Amino acid sequence: MENKDNLNSLIEILKGAERVVILTGAGISAESGVPTFRGQDGLWKTYRAEDLATPTAFSHNPQLVWEWYDWRRGLICSKEPNSGHKVIARWEKFFPSFHLITQNIDGLHQKAGSKKVFELHGNIWKIRCTEEDTVMENHDTPLREIPPKCPECGALLRPHVVWFGESLESSVLHNAFYLSANCQVIFVVGTSAVVQPAASLPLTAAEAGAKIVEVNPTSTPLTAYANFSFRGGAGEILPLIDEKLRLISSD
Ligand code: APR
Repeated sequence: MENKDNLNSLIEILKGAERVVILTGAGISAESGVPTFRGQDGLWKTYRAEDLATPTAFSHNPQLVWEWYDWRRGLICSKEPNSGHKVIARWEKFFPSFHLITQNIDGLHQKAGSKKVFELHGNIWKIRCTEEDTVMENHDTPLREIPPKCPECGALLRPHVVWFGESLESSVLHNAFYLSANCQVIFVVGTSAVVQPAASLPLTAAEAGAKIVEVNPTSTPLTAYANFSFRGGAGEILPLIDEKLRLISSD
């Protein structure tokens, strides 16, 4: 098997790359102390997604669902971006066209300074009125009231995140597939690459001739399709690549 972790040949490709996309998952926030979903201490090992992250669960027991999201907000609010997040924020200015597509709802990319972020699964710091569909930012930890009510109409508020069985926001999804189909390199960092439609983005990019660069401590269903696959944490591998890139750009 050709070695897929050849940093020098990746740098050669990145030298000429203008349009770069990066797709991230829970793994990029693991080194910041945010639990992943399917990893060893992953959330879905402890909690049942069907009880907490579906529209049915919310209609049955909004109190329980909100208690869980309040706990997660409490966990995330004290976390800081790690060196992986910071490199990605820097690359926004390094590559002529660089876009970040994330499955994460933790907001750590924005906290690291990333501006051009497509959030496929929503954001845990946003809440939405179930009646009027208005979206508002809320950083209260803990929430003042569980379940929270809409300040305008008094209806139940829900987390502005995408639950299992729900469709993604069409404009975000459209942009994500458009950017993936038009990039030259797509980095895939910290995702188990099993959840759709996100898991199809790298394959869409490859079909259009782009190189797939995977960063993950373990192999995933995507590894077989990847041109490069680096075994290690995002906080370790991305700074390594960045260091080499800076060297060539200072030449
Ligand atoms: N750096 C990079 N990758 C890591 C690290 C790290 N430090 N630590 C763990 N990983 C990898 C794991 O090996 C795993 O492949 O991150 C991946 C995390 O996978 P999941 O927990 O399945 O998370 P993700 O792929 O983002 O899940 C997709 O599923 O539950 C839903 O909506 C939720 O957005 C989420 C979606």
